Parts: sequence; structure tokens; C-alpha cells
Amino acid sequence: MIKVSRKVASISPSMTLAISAKANELKAAGVRVINFGVGEPDFNTPAHIISAAKDAMDKGYTKYVAAAGLPALKKAICQKLKKDNGLDYDPSQIIVSNGAKHSIFNALFATIDDGDEVIIPSPYWLTYPEVVKSCGGVPVYVETTREGGYKMTAEQLEAAITPKTKMLILNSPANPTGSVYVQEEIEKIAHVCVKHNILVLSDEIYEKLIYGGEKHYSIAQVSPEMKELTIVINGVSKSYAMTGWRLGYLACAPVIAKAIASFQSHSTSNVNTMTQYAAIAALEGPTEPMEEMIKAFGDRRQKMMKLLDGYRDIGLDYVKPDGAFYLMLVVEKLFGKSYKGKQIRGSMDVADILLTEKQVAVTPGICFGDDEVIRLSYALSFEDIKTGLEKIAELAREVQ
Ligand SMILES: Cc1ncc(COP(=O)(O)O)c(C=O)c1O
Repeated sequence: MIKVSRKVASISPSMTLAISAKANELKAAGVRVINFGVGEPDFNTPAHIISAAKDAMDKGYTKYVAAAGLPALKKAICQKLKKDNGLDYDPSQIIVSNGAKHSIFNALFATIDDGDEVIIPSPYWLTYPEVVKSCGGVPVYVETTREGGYKMTAEQLEAAITPKTKMLILNSPANPTGSVYVQEEIEKIAHVCVKHNILVLSDEIYEKLIYGGEKHYSIAQVSPEMKELTIVINGVSKSYAMTGWRLGYLACAPVIAKAIASFQSHSTSNVNTMTQYAAIAALEGPTEPMEEMIKAFGDRRQKMMKLLDGYRDIGLDYVKPDGAFYLMLVVEKLFGKSYKGKQIRGSMDVADILLTEKQVAVTPGICFGDDEVIRLSYALSFEDIKTGLEKIAELAREVQ
């Protein structure tokens, strides 16, 4: 019998797979499914970015380049980090990889040893624990509350630290909650991390997608000591509608960057060269197309919350999101009831019934460590959002 390695055996299969497989089956059968499960902007990559990739190909830039990234792209990333975040990095501290997810893997692989504990505020993006486990680490969850806007406090962090704690994963703006940590909250968390010498993987992929007046603040900005402990993760996927291009990057202390550069040179080598030229155009080019996309997300969020405000009396509540393009809809009041004879026991049942009975695809909160909610993405047209929410409300009214 073939045995896979212990490392991969510890990785859980994606819980969303069954739901998306069923949604695809329905779609293939010609059923119109409203999909609140999407994790990417429903906008095309701006034209000037696409042109830059075509130009690169026409000019023959189709060969291997430096494994950790084109020097011109690393320079553009350093300029971005300086301009947007006030952070000074040398290009040697930047590693360009195949998407932010790949950057996260590289960062953990380079820093986590067997048995190291990694603190993850919950609800969390479902990839974090799996990557931690595949690197031999142990995920330690800190439960946040809806009342606290799903944000971990410095006190909660302090209480979760043990002699084995190596790292904290911080994600702001957050998937799946849409929460955004403000400067003061981040400063308090940083104080604890510096005190206990804990690394922070700061996933800032949704940085540009903030609404309602909050400002993005990177934990690396707090102090030189905190910057040394931080691995900043970012990329072009969400901010520039470039999910399929596969380009993410990280910025960190030289010793970690050097290790990741060596590892990447023996694993994936460079990110495809044309994508790197496209990313330079994204970072250095006009910002208007992206501002329009962000405005559209902001408008949808506002209208969506307005509709949901009218649903409180039918047992549906939500936590106001400040960023990314997700909203947590609280469905726990439906638990214990049934629909057409089907018992509702948790978020998976809600998602299942919504799909089969109402043709609405959502992501059950259990995938993110919170079984009382479902996650709704608003990366779909407002027309679809409205129809989908009406169908969810129908279900809430019809359960018995
Ligand atoms: C929190 C978070 N980090 C990272 C990523 C991965 O981004 P990329 O597509 O650049 O790998 C995602 C994608 O869904 C995400 O939600």
C-alpha cells in the first residue's frame, strides 16, 4: 500500500469542495445559481496591465529571470511599501512568488519547526491552519467575538502564548470576517509580540479594499523591532483583479528572505516573467480603474447592509464588515428548525439547503471555525446580491 508522507497526511481536504461541486453540477444542468461563494473580484484586470504582459512577450521577455523576482519589480514593490505603508526595505528583502498563498507557504516553511505553535485568530482563512500543519507547526486558535468585531485583543494574544509560540498570523482586512484592525489595536498586539519575541505573518492582501473610513495600518510600521519580526504578505490578486495571474510577494528580515530565496530557487524558480512585467504596470500605473472597483465594492456593501438591516426580525443578523469583500451572516437562529423535513443543525446544513432548495451558493462558517454563520461574498453584481438575499430571507421565513 502506498503511504503518503506524514506532512501531507495532516492536511484536511477543503470543506467547501462538496458545496462547490454541487453548485457546478447544478450550473452544468442549466440551473441559474447565485454564487455568494466567490473569492475574487468580478472585474477584469485593467487594460494597461494586460498590455504590459503582451508587450513583454512581444519584446521576447519570455525566459528565466532571477528566482526571487525581477529587479525592476522588486524596486516597484519597495516603492509601494514606502509610499503606502511608510516601510523601508532593501530589494534583497523582497521575494516574489506565485500568489500570496505561495508567499505564505514559503514564509512558514522558512520559519516553523516541528512542534512550533502558531497563533491564529478565529474565524480564520481556511488555508492558514493547513499550511501551518504541513510545515510541522501546531495551530493555536484564539476565539474572537462578534461583539468585538471579530478582532483578537492584545490580552487574548498574551493569554495564548506558551514557550512554544513562534508566530502569530494576523490578517487585516480579514477574510472571512471583513474586519479591519485599527492602528491602536495593532500597536497593542505589537507590544505583546515584541515582549515575547514572536514573529508575525501579516497578510495584507486585502489592503486596498477598505470602506467606511478606516485606514490600513501594517504591524511592521509600529517600531523597528516589530518590523524585524514581521513578514509582510501582499500581492496583486485582490487589489488589481489579477487572481489568475498568480503573483504575490513578501517583505521580511534579511535572514528569512535569504532562506526563502534559496528554497524558491530550488522549488518553483521565478514567477512567470510576463506576469512580473504586468505587476510592475499594476504597481506603477494609473490607479483609476482600481478606484472604480473599490467604489463598486463599497456601494454593494452599503446596499447589502441596508437590505440585511430589514432581516433582523426573521432571525438573520450580520457583523458589519469594514474591508475585503465578505460579510458574515449570523444564521444560528435557524438551528434546531427544519425545512421540508430536513433538520438544520449547523452552517453546513444551511449552506446545503440554500443550494438545493434556493439555488444560492454560500460558504458555511464551519470552514472558518465559526459554525454560527455563513460567509457571503459581495464580488457579484448587486442585482444578484439582491435576488440571493431575498432567497435567503425566504428560507428564514419558511423554516419551522
Ligand atoms: C486572506 C487571504 N490571503 C491570501 C490569499 C491568496 O491570495 P493569492 O491569490 O494571491 O494567492 C487569499 C485568497 O483568497 C486570502 O483570502
